Amino acid sequence: MAITYNKRTHRCGELRAANVGEDVILAGWVNSSRDHGGLTFVDLRDHTGLTQVRFNPDQNAEAHEVARGLHNEDVITVTGKVVSRGEWVNPRLDTGEIEVEVSGIDVLSRCDPLPFQVNDEFDAGEDQRLKYRFLDLRRNETQDIFRMRHTIAHAIREYFNSQNFIEIETPFLTKSTPEGARDYLVPSRVRPGAFYALPQSPQIFKQLFMIAGFDRYAQIVRCFRDEDLRADRQPEFTQLDMEMAFVQRDDVMEMVEGCVKRIFKDALGIDVPTPFPRMGEHEAMERFGIDRPDTRYGLELQDVTEIMREVDFKVFREPIEAGGVVKCIVAKGGDALTRKVTDGLADELRGIGAGGLPLTKVADGGEFATGVAKFLQPVCKKVCEQLGAEVGDTIFFMPGTFADVCKYLNHIRVRLATVLDLIPKDRWDLLWVVDFPLVVWDEEEQRYFSTHHPFTAPFDEHLGMLDTDPGKVKAKAYDLVLNGTEMAGGSIRIHQQEVQQKVFSMLGISPEEAKEKFEFLLDALRFGAPPHGGIAFGLDRWVMLLSGSESLRDVIAYPKTQRAVCPLTQAPGTVSKAQLDELYLALKPAGTK
Ligand code: AMO
Repeated sequence: MAITYNKRTHRCGELRAANVGEDVILAGWVNSSRDHGGLTFVDLRDHTGLTQVRFNPDQNAEAHEVARGLHNEDVITVTGKVVSRGEWVNPRLDTGEIEVEVSGIDVLSRCDPLPFQVNDEFDAGEDQRLKYRFLDLRRNETQDIFRMRHTIAHAIREYFNSQNFIEIETPFLTKSTPEGARDYLVPSRVRPGAFYALPQSPQIFKQLFMIAGFDRYAQIVRCFRDEDLRADRQPEFTQLDMEMAFVQRDDVMEMVEGCVKRIFKDALGIDVPTPFPRMGEHEAMERFGIDRPDTRYGLELQDVTEIMREVDFKVFREPIEAGGVVKCIVAKGGDALTRKVTDGLADELRGIGAGGLPLTKVADGGEFATGVAKFLQPVCKKVCEQLGAEVGDTIFFMPGTFADVCKYLNHIRVRLATVLDLIPKDRWDLLWVVDFPLVVWDEEEQRYFSTHHPFTAPFDEHLGMLDTDPGKVKAKAYDLVLNGTEMAGGSIRIHQQEVQQKVFSMLGISPEEAKEKFEFLLDALRFGAPPHGGIAFGLDRWVMLLSGSESLRDVIAYPKTQRAVCPLTQAPGTVSKAQLDELYLALKPAGTK
């Protein structure tokens, strides 16, 4: 195998008919090779494409012999002359008009039998792909995702730079930053028993930048959250984090719209119209059952509580009497909604805590048939009129508390959209969701939690209700939603110390705890804090949606699995007793508290 080698003159996707006659050197991976009538052909690949190279035993018997022994993914360089393929042009390749007639070959590195093919239509399982991620990343399809990721990050940096934002780094070894997840902790060696927390976001640090007078800050930054993982959540992920001083909600939203426009243009060549539509959180919950609705399709929730007061049906009556609601979704033309499908949906709902899925169909003659029809017949006409339901439609009902009904009908809505194939392709629905409640009541813990984080400013006109009716206070917060995924979230912040302290106490954070955790922020708020606000985008989510990927794992170079393990490095791993001793740590047996 060669150790020294000739420098390449071209990349594998570059040569064209105009290069015929030139002496060239190419380097890359063997994508495939085949023998044809004594000649050996190799498709040589790098990140720019493929070139066919031809080995002729009459010209260089030794090189031809080497070529015959090549395996896919061996790394080679070849020296040769560009020749026309004549009638054998391959219109599917950019380099298809030429090939390289090889005079010399150096094998730089051999490839062992592969765990999966790199050049193929791909069917390896995710476990294998992540374990051998370097091979997975070698595939064109995966490389395209990371090139798009680069384009998006670059667009963001250029945009904020052009708007006079500056990028400043914030610490990773820090104190707990409350964004609602568990912290990843790092033990301190020099202060036995003390721990750093990895930041869930740079939230407080960026607020301090505004207090410091930087005016506009933006950073592409890693965040760490120990939370239950899903396709759109990773324990470490990347945010575009930004903050601006002396701004109102609309200023931040307008700035973001400019950035999103630029992202779409650079990544997909699409012009998205601005301003994006806005919807109040309450309206989103009423109409879609979720605060990040996918507005690409209908299937909106409708309230039939009033009509259902008239029927003698315990399943509806009891929740209504307890102060709950009955809402429903009408699915037009339910041919795809066979018994098997609706039973499956009902099972799914039971799996997430619902009692069942009362449904009925509008039969010929406008009567209800099947399901809960017999209980609802007296109000059939009224229901159909209110809902605009027609013959053939299926109506899915859900009784219960407002929160439960939202949760279950949202689940049904999203599933029906897929089952009924209602999601239009290539449509990008951007939506601002605004007017969130500042806090939500947690029944289990019997206390309020921030809807966003504790630094979010209340509406000025609601300040008085902080003491009297916190649940009614609205926040100067905004989330950006794309096709039903939350892409960004932010707010105008509290910049007055008294208000911040009041919000802490409303959240059950005692003055001592506030001092312990956030003294530096409370201090800073006493030394000339300008009004300020900002937002953070989930960069990985932008790449996921714009590249059409199904999971964040596809768009993060070395992601974690659902069990927060990195299959490549096998992190997290055990450490030696000596390392633990150095940190004054002792382990308890797994499973004990
Ligand atoms: P928030 O917690 O809403 O706000 O996060 C902002 C955006 O980050 C993305 N995101 C995630 N992406 C992948 N994996 C995760 N585990 C994950 N968690 C969040 C989402 C989300 O919209 N400091 C505030 C922002 C601010 O107020 O300025 C914050 O972090 O796309």
